[in-house]
This record gives sequence, structure tokens and C-alpha cells, in this order.
Amino acid sequence: MTLSLPLLLLVLAVVTSATSSATSDNPTIHAILRDNGLPGGLVPKSTYISSYSFDTETGLLTVNLTQPCYARYADTSLAYFDNYIAGNLSFGELNRVQGLEQEELFVWLPVKGIIEEKGSGVILFDIGLAHKRLSRSLFEDPPDCHSPDALIQGER
Ligand SMILES: *[C@@H]1O[C@H](CO)[C@@H](O)[C@H](O)[C@H]1NC(C)=O
Ligand SMILES: *[C@@H]1O[C@H](CO)[C@@H](O)[C@H](O)[C@H]1NC(C)=O
Repeated sequence: MTLSLPLLLLVLAVVTSATSSATSDNPTIHAILRDNGLPGGLVPKSTYISSYSFDTETGLLTVNLTQPCYARYADTSLAYFDNYIAGNLSFGELNRVQGLEQEELFVWLPVKGIIEEKGSGVILFDIGLAHKRLSRSLFEDPPDCHSPDALIQGER
């Protein structure tokens, strides 16, 4: 009996370290973005994400959402996410973006690239015709995402 407590503590220590290393081996999509110098809120909260992958060799990032949806950032900027989003992630940049659009003067424009302007607190969205510069702070927290139906009812 006197030996069982140290043994129990040893078992607990092993279980605890196994759990924490499993967590760090499997970061969330938001942590992957942050580790690459971009804000985590560029994609919706985890509950809306069904799967994602990141290939560190090629930089290919893919995200499958549970459904296409809209997110509003700080009541100003409106974004549309397709149920499949992809891009090429490198430090501070997501290029060749697919599946993401932003509303600009009532027109929906596909986002082609997302670039963090180093040290300026600004995120630059390449929307083809123009570059849109928005405060990085808008994109720190992953947003809720609403189905197209919910958005239309909320607006009217
Ligand atoms: C991502 O970009 C890098 C550098 O431009 C390139 O070497 C790589 O092939 C690209 N990966 C994909 C999946 O397009
Ligand atoms: C993600 O979506 C793409 C495009 O619809 C599909 O080809 C792929 O199988 C999906 N991946 C998963 C893991 O569901």
C-alpha cells in the first residue's frame, strides 16, 4: 500500500504529459494561422469547421466548413465563406485564396490574397481591383458564421 501512491503519481504524470503533447501536435486552424503571423479570426469559430489540413511542405491550407456562411467583423466588414476554403500559407501571407469573398460597396468580390503588413497592425486584402486595408484587431477573434437565410432575415 505504501508504494501505490508514488506509483499513482507516476502514472498521472505520464498520462498528463501524453495529453499535453497530443494537444500541441494537433493545433487548431486558428493556432496555425497565428503561428504563421496572421490573426486566427480569418476563419470562423471551430464549431463551424468540419475539417482542415495544412501541408508544411507546400504551404497548402484547406478548410472545410459545415456549410457556406457569412460572418460580420466588428459590425462593418462582411465576409462570405464557401464550404471549402483553400490558400497557400506562408509567414504573414495567405495567397491564391479560394472560397472567400468580401462585400465592397454592395458588390461581392473574391479575396485573392491576405497579407499582414509587418508591424503596422494592418491586414491587406487583395480583392483584385484594389487592396483593402483593415485593422488587424478586427480579425483576432474567430467570428460566428451565419447561414445565408439567417443573414437575410436579420437584415430585413
Ligand atoms: C506555395 O507557395 C510556395 C512559394 O511561392 C510554392 O513553392 C508552393 O508550391 C506553393 N504551394 C501550393 C500548394 O501552391
Ligand atoms: C472538403 O471539401 C472539398 C471540396 O468540396 C472536398 O473535395 C473534400 O473532400 C472535403 N474534405 C473533407 C475532409 O471533407
